Amino acid sequence: MITYRRISALKTAADFRAHMESLGIDLPLEEQVEQVPASPLAQPLSLDGRTIGNRFAILPMEGWDAERDGRPGPLTIRRWRHFGASGAKLIWGGEAVAVRHDGRANPNQLLINEQTLPHLAALRETLVTEHRQQFARTDDLLVGLQLTHSGRFSRPNDKQRAEPLIVYHHPLLDSRHNLPPDYPVLGDEQLDRLCDEFVRAARLAQRAGFEFVDIKHCHGYLGHELLSAFERPGRYGGSFENRTRLLRQIVAGVRAEASGLGVAVRFSAADMLPFHSGPDGLGEPEPFGEIRHSSFDIRHSAAYPYAFGGDGTGLGFDLTEPRALLDLFRELRIRLVCVTLGTPYYNPHILRPALFPPSDGYLPPEDPLIGVARHVHVTAELKRHAPDLVLVGSGYTYLQEWLPPVAQAVLRRGWTDFIGLGRMVLSYPELPADVLSGRPLRRKQFCRTFSECTTAPRNGLVSGCYPLDPHYKELPEAQVVAEIKHRQPHG
Ligand SMILES: Cc1cc2nc3c(=O)[nH]c(=O)nc-3n(C[C@H](O)[C@H](O)[C@H](O)COP(=O)(O)O)c2cc1C
Ligand code: SF4
Repeated sequence: MITYRRISALKTAADFRAHMESLGIDLPLEEQVEQVPASPLAQPLSLDGRTIGNRFAILPMEGWDAERDGRPGPLTIRRWRHFGASGAKLIWGGEAVAVRHDGRANPNQLLINEQTLPHLAALRETLVTEHRQQFARTDDLLVGLQLTHSGRFSRPNDKQRAEPLIVYHHPLLDSRHNLPPDYPVLGDEQLDRLCDEFVRAARLAQRAGFEFVDIKHCHGYLGHELLSAFERPGRYGGSFENRTRLLRQIVAGVRAEASGLGVAVRFSAADMLPFHSGPDGLGEPEPFGEIRHSSFDIRHSAAYPYAFGGDGTGLGFDLTEPRALLDLFRELRIRLVCVTLGTPYYNPHILRPALFPPSDGYLPPEDPLIGVARHVHVTAELKRHAPDLVLVGSGYTYLQEWLPPVAQAVLRRGWTDFIGLGRMVLSYPELPADVLSGRPLRRKQFCRTFSECTTAPRNGLVSGCYPLDPHYKELPEAQVVAEIKHRQPHG
């Protein structure tokens, strides 16, 4: 079995550099982490007349813990309070909020409607109040809401029952859900109505006090699936113009009906084939067409046409269309863009590099540091193409001890504008504040990418950092998660 060198074992910058060299990757690194006010991480950024106080962004992370009617539950409120306490000045969407019930990824996902509106407003207020208490000011804090429809990955009524709403037939993903060839595809008129639902949700988000909405186009959900609807006939498929129609219609509606509300997009800039666990538990791409593979011998003779930002091999990237999407964002006056990769359902190793797989996952087919470098370089390439847009990068958590020195160097080179933090904030919410103030970092709270925050919801439980967050350690669910992990063949 392959073992990868643990990040915590890399004690010096020379160790880290040598390890990168052995992997054939190159991440910039600064040995001296600076503090306020000199640190690149502490620099404010102006965006459309607003100032964002530093360069840390909290990435959206749901917890599978809202009430069945879509209101936040106590654990949701606790998580958002932590986001406020983090010290990050850009809150990218909080977490995915469904614009309507059939688009919920699970029955405990937040939902935005007239009934939940006061509760979502209070949720935002909790975050802002916490931030004010900790950091004295909030005029430089920007808080948005991520709006979503889960499309193919909808499970609105029962955690164990998928109710996919697909925009095209994907041979590999359809078979994962046993969808027959005549399984209905959402029609153009249904997508027109969905645009209206997004616009309605955006109006509500504005009433709840959010300053921008993210029209989510990532991770295999409906907006992202449409970007790869190359083979779909009609107004929403085929050409680039058609595959971006949903976005353009929603933005037009928001501009007309929610004047003053910012619009942002989080998008999966590139995707790969679905992966699954091979005979040795290691992730390997699913066979497609004439593609033959084994874990270390991958040959292609058939084009894989379903990856937005893919080069046709199913494993490589071609950023021509993602660059065109940035140009479209500019035309639509969208300046705030969050870059991510892949999906949590069929190639999680490219979305969130991790040493340990979740219970439904596979052992990492590459050193997870390669995944981090992929994120950093894709974002840098997009930033080079559109230096006028404000980009937020993702996938930094696996860096652990090396996160601050790498983040600082990436920012100083102008490869991104914000360092987005996901899992690290679940285990160690105060990391940004500690880095900025020069306090010693709490190494015991570093996320070590155990993936229990994914294993839990995959097994119908609330998400959270069971190994490191004392609150979750005490929950009865912690025992269940531990048992699941124990049973995992590659646990
Ligand atoms: C428990 C959990 C929930 C997540 N929920 C969302 C979500 O609601 N919306 C979203 O765009 N990404 C979501 N993500 C992805 C993260 O925002 C982020 O892209 C990913 O974890 C990689 O960043 P990291 O390396 O800092 O963790 C989630 C990730 C985790 C671990
Ligand atoms: S459960 Fe905690 S340590 Fe594990 S990946 Fe999630 S945040 Fe990190």
